Amino acid sequence: MKHLTLIAVAALMLASCATKTNNMKENETINSIMTRVSVRQFTEEKPSAEQIDILLRAAMAAPSAVNKQPWGFLVVDDKEMLKKIGEQFPNSRVQNNAQVAIVPCGDLSKALEGEAQEYWVQDVSAAVENILLAAHSMGLGAVWTGLTPIKARAEQAAQLLGLPENIVPLCIIPVGYPAEEPAVKDKYKAENIHYNVW
Ligand SMILES: Cc1cc2nc3c(=O)[nH]c(=O)nc-3n(C[C@H](O)[C@H](O)[C@H](O)COP(=O)(O)O)c2cc1C
Repeated sequence: MKHLTLIAVAALMLASCATKTNNMKENETINSIMTRVSVRQFTEEKPSAEQIDILLRAAMAAPSAVNKQPWGFLVVDDKEMLKKIGEQFPNSRVQNNAQVAIVPCGDLSKALEGEAQEYWVQDVSAAVENILLAAHSMGLGAVWTGLTPIKARAEQAAQLLGLPENIVPLCIIPVGYPAEEPAVKDKYKAENIHYNVW
């Protein structure tokens, strides 16, 4: 029994070393962040309900101002609706065979008051990035495609998707299995970094 406990503790320590490391290549989280790319072409294979559930859980694990969680997520997998989205929003890439699209929205009835209401955009953006990273880590492809702040686009999407007055769509994320392998871009620029005073 004592041996088993020791083995279990050693295994746990090893597991934690594997992810909590300063080595960029060995750290799974950093590796996912550094290798994520926008995917805009998808295969016929549909992500499973479990995978979509994980993406939504990852989304809702995001930080939000005063922990308001002022969001809602519309999952579209109806073929007819996907077709309409692809036709009306070609920038969304849903027409490129996406089997599922997630529309992360701000819920203004849950948002802060006054000028702090606009925090919803940052809150939902954090959720969007979580979705993109979670999708990539599961071998799925996705891309953030913009609606808000382009008012006409956001209003058109709200109408198409039957969104209530208090729900504002931030973007459309087509999700599927990648049918392309875009190269990872190195965007690191030392000139973007300043210390203490700009
Ligand atoms: C706010 C925002 C809006 C975007 N809108 C679109 C879009 O409408 N269509 C599209 O194909 N990609 C869109 N993108 C994806 C960017 O083009 C992409 O992130 C950028 O080229 C960097 O490439 P990477 O994601 O592969 O690193 C958008 C990204 C962001 C953050």
